[in-house]
Amino acid sequence: MITIMGATGATGGALLHRLTGLDVPCRAISRTPGTLRAATDARAPVEIVGADAADPRTLRDALKGSTQLFLAMANSPRQAELEMNAIDAAALCGVEHVVKLSAPAAEPASPVAISRGHWQVEEHLAATGMTATLLRPYAFMQKLLLNAPSVAQGVLIGAMRDAPCNYIDVRDIADVAAETLLDPGLAGATYTLTGPQAFSHSALARLLGELTGRPVRHIDLPPNDFHSHLLSTAHMPPWLASHVVEIQQLAVSRPEFPNDTTETVLGRPARTLPDFIREHLRVFTATT
Ligand SMILES: NC(=O)c1ccc[n+]([C@@H]2O[C@H](COP(=O)([O-])OP(=O)(O)OC[C@H]3O[C@@H](n4cnc5c(N)ncnc54)[C@H](OP(=O)(O)O)[C@@H]3O)[C@@H](O)[C@H]2O)c1
Repeated sequence: MITIMGATGATGGALLHRLTGLDVPCRAISRTPGTLRAATDARAPVEIVGADAADPRTLRDALKGSTQLFLAMANSPRQAELEMNAIDAAALCGVEHVVKLSAPAAEPASPVAISRGHWQVEEHLAATGMTATLLRPYAFMQKLLLNAPSVAQGVLIGAMRDAPCNYIDVRDIADVAAETLLDPGLAGATYTLTGPQAFSHSALARLLGELTGRPVRHIDLPPNDFHSHLLSTAHMPPWLASHVVEIQQLAVSRPEFPNDTTETVLGRPARTLPDFIREHLRVFTATT
């Protein structure tokens, strides 16, 4: 049995869709299982269970009988602790293979605090002896939708200067996750996942302008000013504003060139950013 943790989230949701589309029986975990049940096709081969990673007992109940776990967890200051709870419960329940959604620069001295947490979780997972597959994708195309209100006003604000940023569609991450869950030959490796082409923020602003038919101006702020903007205008909590700034500075210090891992695993090209924007034109042009 494959169990998906984070099944209501961007990547876990796409994985649930992929596996049920292939008629693969699976189990989906949520803290609000009723909401997930209401949003899921009743004919899909999925068992929906409630559990909270902050409560190890509920995790153990939810993971009973699972052989594989896909682990995605929302970013938060408690993320590493919650993921390690899930890993401990999986090990206790006899899970053999964990596919963990991680991030680039998952290293002990990473300049990104969340990535230091990912490294800690990866080490914890390695110590259990379960087979560990690590997915380290770059920025999600779907998160660009958070910029849609400002894009609709004609601006794209960031602090990446002209660094190339490599957006990947979460549906491709989910498709890679599905392959690693279904093909034992792909399990146990680390996959750095990129989209097919990197875009600087100014190139992205031009692309958005061309595709929406409205000019989009790129505004590049110094990191401290961008942090203040995220706090005061986007109303982010301080830890999240710091995370966004750290991620953008990482793109400056380590340019995100594309690789062909996604295409190699999937046997088809990765989804492109222009296609993603075309698919969501209404969101990028909605003014209310
Ligand atoms: N955003 C990016 O560009 C990017 C790039 C690279 C890597 N990543 C990594 O991707 C991960 C986030 O993936 P995502 O965006 O697909 O997730 P997401 O949309 O933020 O969803 C997160 C999931 O976490 C679950 N969750 C939160 N707290 C929980 C708890 N206490 N117990 C059980 N489940 C809990 C939620 O489930 P319920 O609410 O249903 O319980 C939800 O389904 C992070 O680790 C991040 O570092 C993100």
